[in-house]
Amino acid sequence: MAKSIVIYTSKRGSTKQYAEWIAEDLGGEALPLSDAYGIDLHGYDCIIYGGWIRGSGIVDFDKFAKMLDDELMSRLIVFGVGFADETAENYAQVWGYSLGKIDPKNNHRVLLYILGGRYDPSAVTGLDKFLMKTMRAVLLSGSTIEAKAQANMMKARIDNGCDLVRRENIDSLIKDAMKIIHTK
Ligand SMILES: Cc1cc2nc3c(=O)[nH]c(=O)nc-3n(C[C@H](O)[C@H](O)[C@H](O)COP(=O)(O)O)c2cc1C
Repeated sequence: MAKSIVIYTSKRGSTKQYAEWIAEDLGGEALPLSDAYGIDLHGYDCIIYGGWIRGSGIVDFDKFAKMLDDELMSRLIVFGVGFADETAENYAQVWGYSLGKIDPKNNHRVLLYILGGRYDPSAVTGLDKFLMKTMRAVLLSGSTIEAKAQANMMKARIDNGCDLVRRENIDSLIKDAMKIIHTK
């Protein structure tokens, strides 16, 4: 029987929701990273890590990555959950702060997905609130027409909140996971 595992880090539930949907579709289990340390991932045909995106980084990807080796990298899929659209620039940035750190030449060709998340400005406090204020200020300095349009949309999402979580957002990821499982 093919086995898959989804490991996630979620602060407010949207990443957890995706992890549970993925586990349901693949017939595997979804576990928070805190419960996954010590598990031998070699027993799984497909390993998926998902984390919420904070300042373009996939939260706790560095901690999860310590559990990996070359063999496991060949059956890994990563997803980040955020409120920014999957533009080439955003994708490259998120990749650079996650997979790019452990496989800078992309030798392992690990797939990275960016899925639409949920954001509620009234729930953000402390350091996160400060980071968001800084991000918003940087966004407003976009120069090209496209960058300005994207920045205005992001500004509206930061100010008013958004909910981009949809089950169909995982469709392509599921197809890729099935391919990995069926080549095992
Ligand atoms: C402090 C902070 C920084 C964030 N930075 C980004 C970001 O750089 N890019 C992005 O797409 N989303 C960013 N987000 C949005 C969240 O990652 C998004 O809302 C996500 O769905 C939260 O996942 P969770 O519900 O699993 O906690 C940020 C949110 C917070 C609170």
